[in-house]
Amino acid sequence: MKATVIHQFGPPEVFRYEDVKQPVPGTGELLIKVAACGINRYDLYLRMGAVFTDIVFPHVLGADVAGSVAAVGPGVSGWREGDRAIVAPGYPVDPGDANVRPENRAPSFEVTGTHTWGGNAEYIRAPARYVLRDETGLPAEQVAAMPLVLMTAMHAVETLGEVRGGTRILIQGGASGSGNACVQVAKALGAKVATTVGSSAKAEWLVRESILAPGVGADLVINYNERNFADEILDWTDGVGVDVVIDNVGASVFEDNLKSLRVGGIFVNFGLVGGMKATLNIRELFFRQHQLRGSFMGSIDELKRGLKLLTDGKVKAVVDRTYPLKDAADAHRYIDSRAVRGKVVLIP
Ligand SMILES: NC(=O)c1ccc[n+]([C@@H]2O[C@H](COP(=O)([O-])OP(=O)(O)OC[C@H]3O[C@@H](n4cnc5c(N)ncnc54)[C@H](OP(=O)(O)O)[C@@H]3O)[C@@H](O)[C@H]2O)c1
Repeated sequence: MKATVIHQFGPPEVFRYEDVKQPVPGTGELLIKVAACGINRYDLYLRMGAVFTDIVFPHVLGADVAGSVAAVGPGVSGWREGDRAIVAPGYPVDPGDANVRPENRAPSFEVTGTHTWGGNAEYIRAPARYVLRDETGLPAEQVAAMPLVLMTAMHAVETLGEVRGGTRILIQGGASGSGNACVQVAKALGAKVATTVGSSAKAEWLVRESILAPGVGADLVINYNERNFADEILDWTDGVGVDVVIDNVGASVFEDNLKSLRVGGIFVNFGLVGGMKATLNIRELFFRQHQLRGSFMGSIDELKRGLKLLTDGKVKAVVDRTYPLKDAADAHRYIDSRAVRGKVVLIP
């Protein structure tokens, strides 16, 4: 089969589009023909060797797979060739962890395509227990844009953020793949949403999106290059601060994130594009009784609930661009440019 492969860590130029051996599904596994594979910033980190250094080369990236069953491995029932399928974007890779709940707390839980081959290929094999039926009725590129960010958003916003109707929430990076999914999930839960972007073009795009799909967009879009977002949030909340902050940026906005949070508010972080090391004022932490929570991916149940929102049209897949699989390097460069609005998807 054709795959976009890396033989070493490095810049996008390390991608090679080449023939590799097609995987054969083992016991309990399915072979999925990949119709589309979404890219996440995680793939860029993995490609650069910034997350794990123990990747065995050649390696195939790609966590977000939409496709159809091409072959059913021994011991698998209930699946037939041609069934539309979504591979879970993360799961416990050690079968000994199969009963750990939630799955994202299992010791061997990892993002799909980390130590096993991912979906930047014509085929991927995966344990049948972590393959979901695709009941969205949407085109494959839209489906492939969403599983990882929906799983993440359900866990961060609904479970850890405890967001309900009327919750006031600040979500960083509203035009980013993960931030946009969080905005949409929060809106679907009935929250009042403020979000940040780095350009007026992105701000206009977010507003336009909400006109196109009423109720989906954010209530307040802040271009942080025009005004300090914490000041804007304090104005928006009459000086009180929001109930919840969802952060995928990290160190560069940490202090202002906590400034934006009300007394007793919940802070959830799941990302670090703006740096890893921040300074925490302990006095402020306990005086203001902030709840700091770390979030990594989500459970299979959360993924299913997120996909149900997609199927029901309560969140929509936001695909900025698609690229042929052989052009994965261009797709990664585009994501690196920070111009992306929503998701970028590869088509084999
Ligand atoms: N833990 C988890 O479960 C999980 C799941 C999904 C994502 N993540 C993490 O969340 C972060 C975002 O991922 P994503 O896939 O949503 O990314 P993305 O779609 O590539 O968006 C990243 C956006 O972050 C903003 N940004 C702010 N400061 C930045 C900086 N210093 N460098 C680059 N971009 C910066 C940019 O938007 P503006 O220019 O508008 O500011 C950029 O477009 C990553 O750290 C990723 O690993 C974690």
